[in-house]
This record gives sequence, structure tokens and C-alpha cells, in this order.
Amino acid sequence: MREVIVDVGSYRYPVFIDRNALSFFPEWVKNDKSANRILLVTDEMVWKDLGPVISKRIDETGLPWSVVKLMPGEVSKGWDGLRKVIDRCVIDFLDKRSFVVSFGGGVVGDVAGLASALYFRGTKFVQIPTTLLSQIDSSIGGKFSINHDEGKNLVGVVRQPQGVFCDISLLDQLPERQWRNGLAEMFKASIIRDANLFDRLSKWPAELKGAISDEELLNVIMRCVQIKAAVVGEDEHEYGVRRHLYFGHTFGHAFELYAMRPETFLHGEAVSLGMQVAIEVSRRLGHLPDAEADRALKALKGQFPFRLPENFSMERLYRAIIHDKKVEGDKIRFILLRKIGVAFDELVSLSWIRDNLESLVSVIK
Ligand SMILES: NC(=O)c1ccc[n+]([C@@H]2O[C@H](COP(=O)([O-])OP(=O)(O)OC[C@H]3O[C@@H](n4cnc5c(N)ncnc54)[C@H](O)[C@@H]3O)[C@@H](O)[C@H]2O)c1
Repeated sequence: MREVIVDVGSYRYPVFIDRNALSFFPEWVKNDKSANRILLVTDEMVWKDLGPVISKRIDETGLPWSVVKLMPGEVSKGWDGLRKVIDRCVIDFLDKRSFVVSFGGGVVGDVAGLASALYFRGTKFVQIPTTLLSQIDSSIGGKFSINHDEGKNLVGVVRQPQGVFCDISLLDQLPERQWRNGLAEMFKASIIRDANLFDRLSKWPAELKGAISDEELLNVIMRCVQIKAAVVGEDEHEYGVRRHLYFGHTFGHAFELYAMRPETFLHGEAVSLGMQVAIEVSRRLGHLPDAEADRALKALKGQFPFRLPENFSMERLYRAIIHDKKVEGDKIRFILLRKIGVAFDELVSLSWIRDNLESLVSVIK
């Protein structure tokens, strides 16, 4: 079993990574003698595919348990989804000794984590991520948020879980599109911190599902988790280096917002385009040498052959960018590259972005 410790100074917790990491879950829970019950939070689709797998493991803990099922997808990441989980905590008389366990992708993790932080001013919380994106990114670092009508992830907390179980057998039924969605965030981790990982991911095949050996997948997941753990360990509350995890997200979020229909772009797909623009911004501002920028763009274009919709309006795109939470006055804090594996942040003038918008975006056309 691979294990990474997330250490935020005041608190440490394990991330277990294995093909059968889940089999270790019952014993791990039993070690907590004060635990009194479990509320499992999942979504309807995950429950349909993987309900028996998780039910068996929770039964083995010997604790009484119940389950709350959310609708699949971003639609559940709002007040109604949060309320549904908290209502269930109340009905089942959970208290501080109880475990809320998230079993699903980033949406389930965010809603369950926020509910667990708010109810009783905090229950115990465990993440069992079931998408590639959630195994390498969203389940690590303790950020939990829901969306508000006016923006994504506007309501949330930072609060670390007790543990995370990344079990790659749960990914066996994950659709190919979700694999590539996760790959985008893996590229992001590599491009900000690890050039070797970037080269390794660049060689991954066009069809991922079933094509990556367990050994390769486990090593790469572990490396991504290590990168996220190191960044979060240095800056849990995002006053500094944690912002680097937003590489590609300024334009990525703007593309998501612009498209407005979640099925147009998954989060990682939009970020894969946003990273290409961020590479071009780094080059134009004189931080990233041409050869390095070309190499990075070639790798990303090879892995993410997405394009923008026809009739793309630069005006609407710019409006989405100026609503980014990293805007500070007439500038935006942009995550840039010096070379592959080395990120930094800098305030970039919004007027420069507006004046160069069309040519910057032409890099993904
Ligand atoms: N908290 C953080 O630090 C953080 C970081 C990155 C992203 N996020 C959030 O994560 C969310 C995206 O997460 P996601 O990409 O995991 O999406 P998701 O949770 O919506 O899951 C994607 C889809 O895959 C299905 N699914 C999940 N596991 C499956 C499995 N094993 N087999 C088959 N289908 C499965 C789900 O039912 C869903 O329809 C976004 O809301 C994003 O804002 C949070």
C-alpha cells in the first residue's frame, strides 16, 4: 500500500493509494474506538455501479450506517445538495464522534465535506474518491465548497479530513471522458512542479481506460498526491503557493462560464485549454522561452484535442475573466511559468489581457 501524509503543521492525515485501498477501510475505522456511526454520501450513478462494493466495506466496520444519494453532477453542488446531507445528519442523530464518508467524485466530496464541517461544528470526515480527478486533486487539501447563483465555489471552508482512500479498482468503470478530465489536472500538477512527470504524462496513449498499467497509474497518482500535499502543507489557506494550483484556471473557468452548459466542457477539459493560454501568456510576457512554450503546447494539444465553439465572442470571454476571484483592482493575479515544472504568480494588467485576447486565444484554435 502506498501512503502519502498530508501535513499542514497543526494536523496530519494519511492518503492511502492502492488497487484495493478500500479493503483497509474497515480496520482503519475500527481503530477509532470513539466512532459511533457512519453517514455515507454518494451520488445515484456511483451508488448504482459501486453500491455493493462500498456497502460490504461499511458493514465490516460493525457500525450502524445510512446513505444519502445526491443527483450526479454539478447540479448537486448547491444549497439543496448541502441541505439534503445536513438534514440526514440531523435525522440520523450524528454527532462529533460520527463519520461522514464521501464516496464519489469531486462534487460529492465538496458537498459532503462542507456538510461535515458545518453540522455539529464538525464531524469526522473521510474521502473515498471515485473519479481520477478526485483521486489526484479534489480529495486532497481540505477545500470544500458549493456554488452560488453568482459564481462557482463561492461558499465553502478549509478543513482537513481524517483520511483519504484512493482505490484505483473504483476507476475500472469510469468513462473515458472522465479519465481525460482527470488527466488534465495531472498535467496541471506536473507543469507547476515536476517536469519529469510532465514528460511521462505526455507519452500516455490516446485511449486511457484500460491502457495504463496499475504500477504506472499508482505511481503517477502518488506523485500527484505528493505534489498537492506539499503545496497544501506549505500554504493551507491559499495566501501564496497554493494559488499555483490555479494554473490554467483563469481562462479555464472563463471557458466553462462562457459555455454555460456543463456538458460543453468538463472542468478538466476547460482547464486543458486554459493551460495552453497560460503558457502563451507566460511566453508573451517574456518569462517562458520559445522552445519550452512550444514543447508544452505540443504535449497539451496532443492530449487534449478540444476546440472552442464556433462564433466565439471575445467580449463575452473577457467579461467572464474580469469576474475571476483573482482580480485585484485593474490587474489579475495570473499563474505563469518560467519553465515546465516551475510556476510563479504575478499581477498582470487586465487591459493587456483585453488588448491581446484574440491572439492569446488563437493558440487553441
Ligand atoms: N475541493 C477541491 O479542492 C476541488 C478541486 C478540484 C475540483 N473540485 C470540484 O470537483 C468537481 C469535479 O469533480 P469530478 O470531475 O470528480 O466530477 P463529478 O463528481 O461530477 O463526477 C463526474 C461524473 O462521474 C460519475 N462517476 C463518479 N465516479 C464514478 C465511477 N467510479 N465510475 C463511473 N462513474 C463515476 C459521477 O456520477 C458524475 O456523473 C467540480 O465541482 C470541481 O469544482 C474541487
